[in-house]
Amino acid sequence: MSGAGHPLALFICGCYAVALGVHTGVCCVAAGRDTGYYVAAVYEHQLILSPNPRALTSRKQALELMNKNLNIYEQQVMTAAQKGVQIIVFPEDGIHGFNFTRTSIYPYLDFMPSPQLVRWNPCLEPRRFNDTEVLQRLSCMAMKGGMFLVANLGTKEPCLSSDPRCPRDGRYQFNTNVVFSNNGTLVDRYRKYNLYFEAAFDTPYQVDYITFDTPFAGKFGIFTCFDILFFHPAVSLLRDTGVKHIVYPAAWMNQLPLLTAIQIQRAFAIAFGVNFLAANIHHPALGMTGSGIHSPLKSVWHHDMKHFTGHLIIAQVAKNPQGLVGTENTTDKMDPSHSEFLKILAGDPYCERDSQEVHCNGTTRWNVNAPPTFHSEMMYDNFTLVPVWGREGSLSVCANGLCCYLRYQRPTLSKELYALGVFDGLHTVHGTYYVQVCALVKCGGRGFDTCGQEITEATGLFDFHLWGNFSTPYIFPLFLTSGMTLETPDQLGWENNHYFLRKSRLSSGLVTAALYGRLYERDFENQGQGSGYRADGPELA
Ligand SMILES: *[C@@H]1O[C@H](CO)[C@@H](O)[C@H](O)[C@H]1NC(C)=O
Ligand SMILES: *[C@@H]1O[C@H](CO)[C@@H](O)[C@H](O)[C@H]1NC(C)=O
Ligand SMILES: *[C@@H]1O[C@H](CO)[C@@H](O)[C@H](O)[C@H]1NC(C)=O
Ligand SMILES: *[C@@H]1O[C@H](CO)[C@@H](O)[C@H](O)[C@H]1NC(C)=O
Ligand SMILES: *[C@@H]1O[C@H](CO)[C@@H](O)[C@H](O)[C@H]1NC(C)=O
Ligand SMILES: *[C@@H]1O[C@H](CO)[C@@H](O)[C@H](O)[C@H]1NC(C)=O
Ligand SMILES: *[C@@H]1O[C@H](CO)[C@@H](O)[C@H](O)[C@H]1NC(C)=O
Repeated sequence: MSGAGHPLALFICGCYAVALGVHTGVCCVAAGRDTGYYVAAVYEHQLILSPNPRALTSRKQALELMNKNLNIYEQQVMTAAQKGVQIIVFPEDGIHGFNFTRTSIYPYLDFMPSPQLVRWNPCLEPRRFNDTEVLQRLSCMAMKGGMFLVANLGTKEPCLSSDPRCPRDGRYQFNTNVVFSNNGTLVDRYRKYNLYFEAAFDTPYQVDYITFDTPFAGKFGIFTCFDILFFHPAVSLLRDTGVKHIVYPAAWMNQLPLLTAIQIQRAFAIAFGVNFLAANIHHPALGMTGSGIHSPLKSVWHHDMKHFTGHLIIAQVAKNPQGLVGTENTTDKMDPSHSEFLKILAGDPYCERDSQEVHCNGTTRWNVNAPPTFHSEMMYDNFTLVPVWGREGSLSVCANGLCCYLRYQRPTLSKELYALGVFDGLHTVHGTYYVQVCALVKCGGRGFDTCGQEITEATGLFDFHLWGNFSTPYIFPLFLTSGMTLETPDQLGWENNHYFLRKSRLSSGLVTAALYGRLYERDFENQGQGSGYRADGPELA
């Protein structure tokens, strides 16, 4: 489905250029300048795949296949140009596809000179380097559409046997994002650092920390798909406080209830107070869908498991995103449930804690009998959970060093089972990374063992505070409501060494409300020495 988190978010550029008698986006560009907005597009691409990616093929055949995808890209750029788009983002693997071997992908790779060393407009100087047909087409599209263009392709860089890291076949192969300016100049490239089991590609020895400047919105950062879960470069890029926008090509396989594409994209925008322009592949059979233009306060997104077609999202985006974090005193301090929450955190004498619950001496009746804790697998992790029963209550559940708390009221009771879960440990399936998670989820059925299952529909409404005593500052608020919709938390941030999220008046049933903390420095703790602790890696310039 497509949707907007807020009525104002549907900024599909309505100021038609026709009004000015021109066919380019002059009108919207001008509007952007006046209102502090720019116009961005992301394209969820239903790619044309090689029928047999592991077989060897020729450069000519590889180009034939890639040109089919590039023809679709070109149509999208021309559509976007008519709507005044100033920057467009295409997904990871969208030109060549996936499931290649190191050898079978070779004919699909473009030669990639370093943009730091070479100033180059591939459209205007096509014969400067061999094997750059894909770069040439992308450059020409950017020029023709008059917009910045971000795309992902496979690249090769020859290396010498004197380079001790040079692979035996004499070349590096990288999963690469490229950025072209609106005149077709190659502005920069980013080589994916956190590969997701991609046998065809090498990890660059040093992380690329790439930011690029635009005349319409200042500095953008760039990274790819799985990178979003790691410190380098996704988080470290943002030490440069001038970076207010991220462009993000992905081929992301959704995983409910915590890690669907639109959830983590939106969470990144909220957690870091940036705009996040995310383009995913459209391949429902592989669970790939979910793209969006996200800001901390609102999102325009697309998630569609039913149709087999690409989708262009165009939205107006604030040049200076307004954040949600640290808004403590600007929101409704008088909300009684919030003052009660603050009292609980402050250790108010009228509230007493035991291992399961917080009891307050107020007008509300609390869950007198501590509900049972149980274990269930969620996202391959062994969560400790408590059921969320009744019309209102206050619960806590702990595991290892993390305690999670929930205070909730329900305007209506549904028959569905919900649970509050905690996990504090090393996640080891489909990647190794340490997480601390507090999650309120709707369970798959009535049994405790269904908590953590993948569901997308829910009717349960909650007004709630969810919080935990996290030992990391890197916390992603994952929030998903029925039918793959996104809502904005009312408030979140730190209070008394606890990180909290609160929300009232949900407009659809709650699927997931989670605080997903990352402890990057603990990712490698169970491995032997010399395992390449990356958080310790190259210093930032
Ligand atoms: C890629 O490989 C995975 C697992 O090996 C398989 O499930 C998937 O269908 C393959 N995708 C394509 C497009 O061949
Ligand atoms: C491109 O390849 C051709 C044929 O192999 C070769 O003659 C030419 O020198 C190459 N050009 C460059 C710029 O490398
Ligand atoms: C092309 O775009 C680049 C990057 O924005 C800029 O530095 C350069 O001046 C432009 N070139 C021309 C000829 O406009
Ligand atoms: C918020 O308000 C409280 C009391 O009104 C004050 O103590 C606190 O410093 C304020 N916090 C911020 C971030 O302004
Ligand atoms: C609850 O509040 C009442 C009235 O304020 C007071 O008399 C009583 O001692 C309180 N109970 C606890 C457990 O604090
Ligand atoms: C989950 O953790 C609990 C507590 O440590 C343990 O008793 C249980 O066996 C674990 N379950 C699984 C499936 O590993
Ligand atoms: C969180 O709270 C629990 C229970 O009070 C405590 O054991 C744990 O050490 C705390 N964790 C942190 C990081 O403070």
